[in-house]
Amino acid sequence: MTAKISSEHENRPDSVGLMSDEEIVARIFDHIDNKTTDTGQASWKEPAENYRSAERFDAELALLRRRWVVFCPSTALPKSGDFIARDAASVPLVVVRGNDKKVRAFLNACRHRGVQVASDAGCTNVFVCPYHGWSYGTDGSLRTVPHKAGFPDLDKENRGLVAVDCLEKNGLIFVKQEPGATDRIFATNLPDVIPDGYRVIQSDALEIEANWKLHLESSLEGYHIRTTHQTTFFPVQYDNLTVVEAFGQNNRIAFPYQAIEGLRDKPKSTWSANGRLTYVYHLFPNVVVSTFPDCMQVVVLEPLGLEQTRQHMFLLTDCGEDSEALGVVLEGQEFAKVGAVEDREVVLGAQRGLAAGANEFLEFGLFESAIGRFHGALTRELEYLTI
Ligand code: FES
Ligand SMILES: [Fe+2]
Repeated sequence: MTAKISSEHENRPDSVGLMSDEEIVARIFDHIDNKTTDTGQASWKEPAENYRSAERFDAELALLRRRWVVFCPSTALPKSGDFIARDAASVPLVVVRGNDKKVRAFLNACRHRGVQVASDAGCTNVFVCPYHGWSYGTDGSLRTVPHKAGFPDLDKENRGLVAVDCLEKNGLIFVKQEPGATDRIFATNLPDVIPDGYRVIQSDALEIEANWKLHLESSLEGYHIRTTHQTTFFPVQYDNLTVVEAFGQNNRIAFPYQAIEGLRDKPKSTWSANGRLTYVYHLFPNVVVSTFPDCMQVVVLEPLGLEQTRQHMFLLTDCGEDSEALGVVLEGQEFAKVGAVEDREVVLGAQRGLAAGANEFLEFGLFESAIGRFHGALTRELEYLTI
């Protein structure tokens, strides 16, 4: 495939800067007809040390605690009392929708002796600590203390769960752990990644023995479609044919399906991405939202260690509960899961390659420009933190 510099869509005047479906489809047809794909201006060499250094890993966690990061989709907590408890950047958090419908985040640590008051996910009016039974409302307030006479000086008003900054925006719930930290980038506009009407139909967590960035990288390019996904995605997609857009520190990559050919004869005004291509939104730094026919997946990559990542996955759809379309969605996800296993295998291979010390740097070519942009943004943010 001939390299082609295609960056005229960057820095568009509208607030987010992403192309419409119609423009994306037209660009894909252009690439199919000319045997081209979007390319960056230069390759990127990422030092292997940045995947192996404990100091670097700690700095990345500090960054994740300092800035607004996606915790989960809004629709993962649809009702009052719905909560999710999990570690984020090595800190236990609980995020809960209150009776007033507002979402709040707290450090998931009892104000008596620190035990986690919530685990996993569920719906509740009250969090009861499993150690001695102190209880907290969904607004974080300390409600009851068994045998309270044992704490003559306890000021209940000031011993609620410690609040963490939290907001809902564009269908996503964000948290920012470091009090007072300013996020100089968050002003970047986001598109409505998750449209109204979507609901979570599956969620799970999976651990993988690889650095979180290796995991992320596997989602951000189409250069591996033919070889990694030889019998899964390659027969229905295209090898190395993507449209890559940047918005702020984020990326959107369009991966067309061969079914896109069915749009050639249709009026341009009807050109829709649904069923014709997958959009992968990379929301800097550690979140990937992918669109599939009638559904979408939100994946949060939670770094647990230099070589360990937990992937929190939410599957969302706008199909009705009993619809035939829902069956098709679930069937499609089984297919996608096979591709995900293929991705994990190569990611584990890349991790072993780092341990082998074969490469002083990992090189991302012109077709892998979103990855180079990610590493550039991460390096700049870490440098900014140390100023
Ligand atoms: S640690 Fe929670 S009640 Fe004692
Ligand atoms: Fe892949």
